[in-house]
Amino acid sequence: MEIEHFTWLRTHKARYDVSSSGVKPIPLDDVMKLGEAEDFTENLVNIYGVNKRNLAITHGTQEGNFAALTALRELGKVEHVITVIPEYEPIRVLPRFLHLRQTEIVINESLTELFNYIKKNSVLFFSNPNNPLGIFLSKKLLWELSDELRRKDAYAVIDSIFLEFVESNLRDLPMENMIFTFSTSKFYTMSELKVGWVVGDESVVKEINGIVDLVSPLVIDLNLKYVSILIQNRKWVRERNLGIIMPNVEIMRKIIKEAGDYVNISYVEYMPILYMRLRCRGVTGSYFSNKLLSKDVLTVPGQYFGKDDGIRIGLGSVLRNDFEIAMRIIMESINEECAGLHDPTDADS
Ligand SMILES: Cc1ncc(COP(=O)(O)O)c(C=O)c1O
Repeated sequence: MEIEHFTWLRTHKARYDVSSSGVKPIPLDDVMKLGEAEDFTENLVNIYGVNKRNLAITHGTQEGNFAALTALRELGKVEHVITVIPEYEPIRVLPRFLHLRQTEIVINESLTELFNYIKKNSVLFFSNPNNPLGIFLSKKLLWELSDELRRKDAYAVIDSIFLEFVESNLRDLPMENMIFTFSTSKFYTMSELKVGWVVGDESVVKEINGIVDLVSPLVIDLNLKYVSILIQNRKWVRERNLGIIMPNVEIMRKIIKEAGDYVNISYVEYMPILYMRLRCRGVTGSYFSNKLLSKDVLTVPGQYFGKDDGIRIGLGSVLRNDFEIAMRIIMESINEECAGLHDPTDADS
């Protein structure tokens, strides 16, 4: 088995690399200057307003996803997994890998489409906000989802790695029949270390803790210390991240306005990624990403999210000067490819 998204990232390099969906890592020395470490589990109890029994510590979000789906399988709670397209490839692949029956549904504007698939022993498994589109279920909708799942005896595993970009208050998330997975990989980024955590339904979290103990017990204390400092300084991290992301968003909006006819942008405020659909006939995301590579710009084609209709561009891992050059190259290439070929009837298909 292969996660092609990772192969793409590992086998390509470019001067203008906007392939990452995270924010520039925070150097460990800067983390140390922010304060003292506390008990990380206590930090989580306070931030999420939950009980320790609702918490598991992992090494990353994907480990949390793996443990959550496996836990539900062990508990006999999964007959059918529902995933969406477009979606982060490891999420789409995991149910198949576990030999679970899977249905993939295509979403366009909203994740609420998922509500139609709730049945006894179904598990909704999705990223919220969605990678690559950024669309997300608000807290109010998450409560409605939890109510509906409880009524129908179904569950949701929600990869929430991007949640803090769009939601600063993490209290009052619904716990019943819900599992949320998190890590430091996007919002609290450090290149030297990583920690993950799971928040959710007590009975499932108990099983998750058992699975983590089986596969990869005990996150190293030093990692927990750094993440404890960062998570206590969430406001600082937010400001710092937005200081990188928002100037790039402004540049993106300016450049798209200048040459907007051939693209359609999916961008949700404060997210570190945008998805650019190409509105010119015959030009796929992978063709276009390869063309950009020849001009020293690295993006991620839609192919790796299940729909090859555009490219994902990261907004948080390069500073404005490089981002502007990357965007100009992207728009120039679109004009080269699409001028004369634009088919407006394709626009919203
Ligand atoms: C939706 C989603 N989940 C999980 C991950 C990876 O998380 P981790 O490194 O914590 O396993 C990514 C990385 O891009 C992601 O986009």
